[in-house]
Amino acid sequence: MCGIVGCFSREGCYEKLLTVLQKLEYRGYDSAGVALVAGGALAVRKKKGAVANLCGAPLAGAAGIGHTRWATHGKPSDENAHPHVAGKFALVHNGILENFAVLKEELTKNGEAFSSETDSEVIVKLIARAYKGDFFAAVAAACSRLEGSYAIAVLCEDFPEEIVCAKNKSPLLAGAGRGAAFVCSDIPALEGEVRYVCPVEDGEFVHIRGEEICFCTAGGACLPKVFCRLAEKERAPVGASGSRMEAEIGQIPHGLEKTLGWLRACDFAPAARALRGAGRIFTVACGTAHHAALAFGALLSREARIPVFCEAASEFRYGDPLIGAGDVLVAVSQSGETADTLEAARLAKARGAYLIAVTNVEQSTLARLADFPLRTLAGAEIAVAATKSYNCQLLCLYFLAAQTVFYKKAAFPAWFSALGRAAEACERAFSCFSEVFSLAKRLQTARAMSFIGRGTDRFTAAEGALKVREIAYVFAESCPAGELKHGTLALVEEGFPVLAVATDRATVQKTANSLAEAKARGAFTCLFSPYKEYAGAADFFCPLPALPAPLMPLVSVVPLQAFACRLCLLRGFDPDRPRNLAKSVTVE
Ligand code: F6R
Repeated sequence: MCGIVGCFSREGCYEKLLTVLQKLEYRGYDSAGVALVAGGALAVRKKKGAVANLCGAPLAGAAGIGHTRWATHGKPSDENAHPHVAGKFALVHNGILENFAVLKEELTKNGEAFSSETDSEVIVKLIARAYKGDFFAAVAAACSRLEGSYAIAVLCEDFPEEIVCAKNKSPLLAGAGRGAAFVCSDIPALEGEVRYVCPVEDGEFVHIRGEEICFCTAGGACLPKVFCRLAEKERAPVGASGSRMEAEIGQIPHGLEKTLGWLRACDFAPAARALRGAGRIFTVACGTAHHAALAFGALLSREARIPVFCEAASEFRYGDPLIGAGDVLVAVSQSGETADTLEAARLAKARGAYLIAVTNVEQSTLARLADFPLRTLAGAEIAVAATKSYNCQLLCLYFLAAQTVFYKKAAFPAWFSALGRAAEACERAFSCFSEVFSLAKRLQTARAMSFIGRGTDRFTAAEGALKVREIAYVFAESCPAGELKHGTLALVEEGFPVLAVATDRATVQKTANSLAEAKARGAFTCLFSPYKEYAGAADFFCPLPALPAPLMPLVSVVPLQAFACRLCLLRGFDPDRPRNLAKSVTVE
């Protein structure tokens, strides 16, 4: 959601803040702002819209903070943009304060006037009121009043080389560079700026004094920490259209190869043993990651003959799930910071379950929480819509499923070795992009569309529909192909697009029948399938490279990702920054 950064650097602090903010923009782009302290005074620049709007001469100062906003309390506007200022303090905040209404009422009664609609302004007012000359103590005192999630970075006019930060349930890490100290919401945003990073845990504070980074308790006691070297800076290229999403689709084969290399070197024994002996297996995730988890659940339960319960994390955490000691929870999250997924994982752990996490960010909160962290090596995913991380999640989860089967039956499933061909199959899927782009052109003005599939193809259909909704702003729904005539068929009229994914020999004819039923009622039908003999079963046919049926979701989603991206571009939108959305949903 929002992105925060704090930086101390005697040279180019303002420029460094802007560089990081630009990389944080995928967390929110409703507004942006920075504050620096110099000569005993704060200078603030903040604006509705993108970071690029913060143009102008650099602000002076060696200590500064910055923010990109994804609005939660109050519309996107200059006033609601961070940093917020009270007395000698400026603050940036990511998270949601749950007791902000009570605190605001109390502060208002005490004569405070608010200049924004945000919950965050309450925090800086509390800090200003608590200040008796001790910067750190004022922040700690204010934090003791807060309920909810927050990662904050605070500046004080009296301390021109200091930044005080605190964290509860919103991501934050500290980073050390040459002559510079940082705090930030994200590791990828710090790439190129720092050489060492260390995550901040809930309840901890970070006190930056010059280049020195001190982790402390609320009482100010120093906490010993080990910083890890940050991996080499990843390139974040753009595609021919100028979009990162397009480039990220192109990186799928590379990500799969890297992920497979990592998985092959990993000792799965503890995770597979836990899964094999589990009373119950659950998965939790959100959005795209949930689709990957659903495909995994279906595969594992079929291959290992174990029931797997897959739930959206937001439902799991409030649904009093049946999970307990002896059960396994598999949590899937590209960022490893999604609030609902994290809370679901915490709940499962608190009840004694074994936690396996699949994340794309090694140091993420979810990875650190897990008993068995698994990695996808998709590389940094900047575009808001998840693409390459999804393919890598599927690969990782299928690998895990195969290991579980091995530990249960002393033999790998027949499709296991074909995981090594997934990258090449995805690369071959690129060759159908010109057909897919012409399909996007054909459907450019469609106002709605349905995606259908059977078995695991229904999860690919759901993922295709999600991509179209989120970036092309076309109402797109998905349903199991067999469910079409139980309701959705009523939507079909002349030209209504129905897009089917059919990758299993056992059911392709059934899906073709569903398309025929839609066609008979005027639908414009599309079929994505490796079975070329079905080319005549739809108005549009996209041939898919073949992998064993259980692995087909890895490759069949690729043309759907490309279709959504092209549809978005043709409709004149930016695929990297869909309206109302942000990468890494760190608030509930
Ligand atoms: C869709 C998309 C979102 C994320 C979801 C979970 O393209 O990107 O649906 O998949 O917000 O995010 P992570 O995987 O970071 O937990």
